[in-house]
Amino acid sequence: MSKPQISRRGVLTGVVGLTVASGLAGYGLRPRRESLGLPAIDARESALVTTGKINNFDLTARLTQVDLGGTVADTWTYGDLLPGKIFRVNVGDRVRVAFKNELPAPTSVHWHGLAIRNDMDGVPGLTTPEVLPGGSFNFDFITPDAGTHWFHPHSGAQLDRGLYAPFIVDDPREVTKYEREWILILDDWTDGVGKNPDEILAELMQGKGADSSGMGGMDMGGMGGGMEMDDMGDVTYPMYLINGRPNNDPETFSAKPGERIRLRIINAAADTVFQVALSQHLMTVTHTDGFPVKAFETALLRIGMGERYDVVVTVTDGIFPFVAEAVGKSQMARALIRTGSGRIPTATFRPNELNAVALTADLLQASDEVKLPARKPDHVQNLLLTGSMKPYVWKINGRTYAQTKALTTRSNETGRLRIRNMSMMSHPIHLHGHTFQLGGAGSNGARKDTVLIPPMGGIDVDFAATNPGKWMIHCHNAYHAEAGMMTRLEYIA
Ligand code: C2O
Ligand code: CU
Repeated sequence: MSKPQISRRGVLTGVVGLTVASGLAGYGLRPRRESLGLPAIDARESALVTTGKINNFDLTARLTQVDLGGTVADTWTYGDLLPGKIFRVNVGDRVRVAFKNELPAPTSVHWHGLAIRNDMDGVPGLTTPEVLPGGSFNFDFITPDAGTHWFHPHSGAQLDRGLYAPFIVDDPREVTKYEREWILILDDWTDGVGKNPDEILAELMQGKGADSSGMGGMDMGGMGGGMEMDDMGDVTYPMYLINGRPNNDPETFSAKPGERIRLRIINAAADTVFQVALSQHLMTVTHTDGFPVKAFETALLRIGMGERYDVVVTVTDGIFPFVAEAVGKSQMARALIRTGSGRIPTATFRPNELNAVALTADLLQASDEVKLPARKPDHVQNLLLTGSMKPYVWKINGRTYAQTKALTTRSNETGRLRIRNMSMMSHPIHLHGHTFQLGGAGSNGARKDTVLIPPMGGIDVDFAATNPGKWMIHCHNAYHAEAGMMTRLEYIA
C-alpha cells in the first residue's frame, strides 16, 4: 500500500481554499516564504492525490437516551447512535460534513488519525471555530490516509460522553486478505449511569479522586496517598462497552468456521487502557493507527486510548468471546463471535489469553512502503511527561497547556520527539495532523499517530513536517489532557 504523494516543497500555488472564502486578505502583503497560514494549508491540500469523488455526510450531536443492557442512560451522541454511524470513504476522496450542534454546550469534531488540512482539524481556539449550541459548521477536506480512524469532540471532557464514531478510509490497492470485517469500539462508560464527565473532572481537580460508580467513598486504590499504581487509570467506571454494549448484552457476530475476519479495534475510552483477546484464537496484527505493519501474531494486545489496531483472525467452530479487559480495573467488555453451536460463556468468563504477555506497538515493524525516508532529524524536541493526583495536574515539559511553550518545526523538516514519561501512569500521546515512526525515520518501527508510553517509559519518534499549521500534541486520557497534559506543534518560517 503506497501513500498518496505529498508535495515536499512548500510551493504556494495561490489556490483558493475549497470552503473558506474569506480570510485571504492580508496574506498578499507578506513575503511568501513567511506565509504559513491559509495559502500554505491550501497548497498542501491541493498537492494531495485525489479521486475527485465527493462524499457528503450529515452529522448532528444531540441529547439521547441509550439502552445499555437494560440500564437507560441520558447521554450525548452523534445522531442518536452509540457509537455514531460510520463514515467510510476511499483514500483521496473529498469529504463534506454538514455538522449541527443540538447539545446544550459548545462542541467540536476532531477527525482522529486523518492528516487533513489544519483548518478542518476541529480544535477550538487553535484550528477551527467552536460550534455553539444551535450552531453548525461545514467541514470540507481531502482524506490522505487509509486506515481505521475515528472522530470525537475536542472540547473539555466531552470525549467521555457518547460522542464517537469510526471513520474508515479504504485503499483500493490494499492487499490484506479476509472474508469479513467488523469494527469493535471500546469504551469506558459513566455518563447517565454514574457521575457525568464534568463532575468527575471537577472532583479530580479538587483532589478527591473519582469513583464514578456512584457508590461513594471508594478509595482510589491508594493513588491519593502519593503512591501511584501502574496503569490503574484515574477513574473507576460503572461499565465498559464494546460497540455501545455492556458485558451482559454483548453484540454477537456470525461467521463460518475457517473464515478470515478483519477486526478493526478502536479504543475510544477516556481513561482506560484495554487488553484484548479472542478466546482460543491468536490474532495477527496487520495495521496500527491505519498504517500496515509486518504481520505479528499474538494472543493478547494492549491498546491505549486513541490507538487503533487491525487484526485478522481465522475463526474455528463454536462460540467465542472477544474480550477487552480494562487494565487495572478488573472489569471486561465483550462481544461474541458465533460460527457454530456451543455454550455461551458467562459474562465473567475470563479467557486464558488474558494471561499472556500483551503485545505493544514498540514490538511491531512498519511495512517497508510506509517507513519514513531515513534522514537525520533536523531537530530534536523533548516531551517530558509529569504529573500528580493531588493536586490533579498533568504537564508536558514542566508546564500545563495554559503555560505551554509550543514545539516548532519548519515545513519539510524531519522532527524528532523524545518522549519520556517521568510518572507512574501510562499516557497515550497523540500528535494531530501527522504520523510518526517509532524509533526514528527509516528505522523498523511502526508508523502511528498515538503511542502508549508506559510508566517511567520513553521512546523517540520522528515525524515529517509536511502539513503546515498549528497542531495539538496531547495525552489521550481526557482527564489528563484537561488537567494540562497538552501542547502544540507549530510551523514557523
Ligand atoms: Cu483523538 Cu486531540 O485527539
Ligand atoms: Cu496521560
